[in-house]
Amino acid sequence: MRKLTPELLDHLPHDDPGALRSRADLRRINFFMGNERWIASAIPENTRHITEIGAGEGHLLSRLAGKFPQAEITAYDLAPRPAHLPPSVKWLQGDLFSHAPPADGGTLIANLFLHHFTDPQLAELGAWMRGFHTLLINEPQRARLPVLLGKLATPFIHPITRHDMRVSIEAGFAPGELAETLGLTPHGFHVTETTDWRGAIRLVCQRCD
Ligand SMILES: C[S@@+](CC[C@H](N)C(=O)[O-])C[C@H]1O[C@@H](n2cnc3c(N)ncnc32)[C@H](O)[C@@H]1O
Repeated sequence: MRKLTPELLDHLPHDDPGALRSRADLRRINFFMGNERWIASAIPENTRHITEIGAGEGHLLSRLAGKFPQAEITAYDLAPRPAHLPPSVKWLQGDLFSHAPPADGGTLIANLFLHHFTDPQLAELGAWMRGFHTLLINEPQRARLPVLLGKLATPFIHPITRHDMRVSIEAGFAPGELAETLGLTPHGFHVTETTDWRGAIRLVCQRCD
């Protein structure tokens, strides 16, 4: 069963030194897990709109702005707009639940984001996602091997990351859970789910109509 514990990084000022260190760890974790490479390779070539929810420091979107110059890119996060972001990327700061989804659909990305939320909140987010054509979701898998890998990484990561990694895995998902909680299949999405030994659970969801 999922266990939700507040993550320390979510409650620190954006420029706190520990938060800066922990966000640098997160970049390395994303690199080790291959998360951004997987997302970039799964985006349909001809996509006209890319939206990322919980975009963090915007590194993935900076990369995608170069790879998909034809696409309009929009980001949602509680954090302020990162300084390095290309001006073409639209950044919407604030609680995602208080924003309407973009009207144009396209491709939606959620990377290490959905595990923050309770099941009723995920059901609400599932409704928020229904206007998109493709959903690419990468989340922590709730399993023993990722916990062990997290323990092995202990000497190399900041204590905030150590805490947040453990609680992220506890709040992560077992196969089948995420699609069901988001209510994707009954609302017209075809879902393909895979797992990766480095601790990711990945969904590619395509609208059937
Ligand atoms: C674990 S970080 C992942 C960031 C990025 N996707 C990555 O992989 O580096 C989760 C992000 O979700 C954002 N976040 C959490 N709750 C949110 C909410 N209710 N609305 C918008 N963003 C939120 C946080 O500010 C944070 O940047």
